[in-house]
This record gives sequence, structure tokens and C-alpha cells, in this order.
Amino acid sequence: MATSTGTAEPDALATEANSEGVRRRDFINIAAVSAAGVGGLATLLPLISQMAPSKDVLAESTTELDISAIEPGQAIKAVFRKQPVFVRNLTPEEIEAANAVDISTLRDPETLDERTREGHHNLLVTMGVCTHLGCVPLGAGEGENKGEYGGYFCPCHGSSYDTAARIRKGPAPSNLVVPDYEFTSDTTILIG
Ligand code: FES
Repeated sequence: MATSTGTAEPDALATEANSEGVRRRDFINIAAVSAAGVGGLATLLPLISQMAPSKDVLAESTTELDISAIEPGQAIKAVFRKQPVFVRNLTPEEIEAANAVDISTLRDPETLDERTREGHHNLLVTMGVCTHLGCVPLGAGEGENKGEYGGYFCPCHGSSYDTAARIRKGPAPSNLVVPDYEFTSDTTILIG
């Protein structure tokens, strides 16, 4: 008993000293990390505020389009934040074709109504960027291949979009993106 107590005490002291050492080291490490964290934050904040776009830049990042000249069956290509955007005036047949689809069968189920604005369901505004790997699909230009679903066709890997620009065939995972936009008049839209 006495022997074991005699040997246990130095061990206990060593352990205590060890754990004390560990604790001290931990503290030093934590203090160093905290200081680095504060330093990191201090340098990050000015960087973030510098990165925040000014009002001028935000205004430039919207696109206003006159859509009055787009006849039914026609589309225009515009640029929004350096990316192509398609604005298409759907014919009654194209609207009918879009509405005839059972959306439960779609890879990315959305109705034409959900993808257009109230009172303007004939006007389809989408990014002209394939959701597979970002190519620009065909179909907005006069005489371009619209694919087997009559909307847009991406020649890069063969994705076909329907008249509501919903993905119907090919590797693209989702519909062409509808950007934020609003009608500022009956003939003008503001994207962004
Ligand atoms: S980028 Fe369009 S199908 Fe691949």
C-alpha cells in the first residue's frame, strides 16, 4: 500500500505537471489562434467593404429592354451582367404546347405560368446559358435549331429545352434560368 502510494505520488505530480503543461500550451495555441482570428477579421472587413458594389455599379448591373418589336414567334438576344439573355414572344401554339405538358414528368417541374409574369404569359425571359456546362443554346436567332421540343437546343452536348425553356432531353439538370425582372411598362422590362 505504502509502496504503491510512494510511487503513485510522483506519477500523479508528473501527470499534473504534464496536464498543466498541456493546458499552458493549449492556452498559448488558443491565444495565438484568437489573435490570428482577430487579425484576419480586421483585414477582412475593409476588404469586404471594398468589395461591396457601389450604387452606380448596381445600377449598371440591370438591363432595360424595349420588347415592343418582338413579334410572336420571335426572340431577341440581349446581355445581362455580361451573360446572354433571351426574350421570346411565344405564339399561341407554343403556349399551348408548354401548357399541355404534365409537369410531373419533367426533370425540373415548373409551369409556363410560374416562369412568366402575370398578364404576360407569352413573354418568356430566360438566361441564354445552358444549365449543363454553360454553352449558349440555339433557338433565339432567326432560323436557328430549336431542338425537338421547339424551344432551345444546346449543341455542346445535345440538351433540348421546350417552349417554356424547360429541360426535356440531354444532360442539362435544370430549366434555363429565369432572371429577376419586372415590367416597367407594357413594352419595357427591367432585368436585375
Ligand atoms: S453545355 Fe449544354 S448540353 Fe452541355
